[in-house]
Amino acid sequence: ALPTGFATVLMRWQRHSGRHGLPWQGTHDPYRVWLSEVMLQQTQVSTVLDYYPRFLSRFPDVQALARATPDEVMALWSGLGYYSRARNLHRCAQVVVAQHAGVFPSTSSELQTLPGIGASTAAAIAAFCHGERVSILDGNVRRVLTRLLAFDGDLAQAAQQRRLWEIAQTLLPEQPAAGDMVAYTQGLMDLGATLCSRSRPSCAACPVLALCRSGQDGTASRYPVKTRT
Ligand code: ADE
Repeated sequence: ALPTGFATVLMRWQRHSGRHGLPWQGTHDPYRVWLSEVMLQQTQVSTVLDYYPRFLSRFPDVQALARATPDEVMALWSGLGYYSRARNLHRCAQVVVAQHAGVFPSTSSELQTLPGIGASTAAAIAAFCHGERVSILDGNVRRVLTRLLAFDGDLAQAAQQRRLWEIAQTLLPEQPAAGDMVAYTQGLMDLGATLCSRSRPSCAACPVLALCRSGQDGTASRYPVKTRT
């Protein structure tokens, strides 16, 4: 049985205690949300806070980014690392301009067809910009959900990843009102980045402790289960 009320409790916690006022929050512009999600994939918030405004002032919209040369894009990305992200970012902007009239597709499944946009990034953009009822599942969220459910499947296996994603879908707010998918999605991210940390989770302070299988058992730090290699 899945914990009932998880979404409600998580949204309430995010609204009171989650992260607010980051420069990519409070916008529904897919270009801005996309840029932030790609930067945040492998880079800390504190670093992205430095790069994001500079990148946006040089490339305020997808057309400006598409017109840039690869060297210009790379110059503004320099220092963020994982440079394939910058090459895909530029290519994605060119595809959006050339094939989608400069408008990002609005559904998670269409977004996933674009260069550099995987399942979780696509879901984040669709949930933040359009309130689509779809779950993100990045590394932090995997940790939150495997702990919540004491999910001990091996996430090195694609079938187990699919199983977890299906469970993630069932935990979503049932009939999300305006703003609910934003609070819920950001809540998952915020919980994973703060209380539900990898090595020393702060279960005593967690808003969903009463619903959390591993938290109740004191076994949170065992999840996610990693196979030995
Ligand atoms: N990591 C990935 N997406 C994020 C977001 N929207 N806010 C904070 N951290 C994130």
